[in-house]
Amino acid sequence: EQTASFFEAVGGEEIFRRLVHRFYEGVVEDPLLRPLYPEDDLDGAEERLRMFLIQYWGGPNDYSQQRGHPRLRMRHAPFVIGEPERDAWLKHMGDAVQSLDLPPELEKQLWDYLVYAAHSMINA
Ligand code: HEM
Repeated sequence: EQTASFFEAVGGEEIFRRLVHRFYEGVVEDPLLRPLYPEDDLDGAEERLRMFLIQYWGGPNDYSQQRGHPRLRMRHAPFVIGEPERDAWLKHMGDAVQSLDLPPELEKQLWDYLVYAAHSMINA
């Protein structure tokens, strides 16, 4: 099964840990995005995104056990997400993806998904 093997193929949890940690290092420095995220629970936000991505790509389903059904568009409804926010999110995510040095085919699979998902999160 394709998504299950992606989690295995990239070597499991460690890659997702690095990806999401690097992403939030960018968010912290971003004047457009930082105010959207919880002021004093960025670690929690990091954990939620990491658990979600791990589950999406076929790893353990801690996300749904702790958070229930993802319903990502609904969960993002409180935040104004237009093209500038989407582009900023993708810039930090792109830096993070590149920092992983994945084999090109796996990198493309991951990146294509993130671009698609970010476009679908626009609500303003
Ligand atoms: C949560 C912003 C795109 C997955 C959040 C939060 C913010 C946010 C402010 C709340 C942080 C928290 O306390 O958890 C944005 C912006 C995006 C974007 C500005 C720009 C397009 C995405 C995409 C994904 C995603 C593309 C999935 C690939 C998540 C997840 C959570 C989350 C899983 C935690 C949901 C929960 O369980 O509460 N996002 N997001 N986000 N975001 Fe995004």
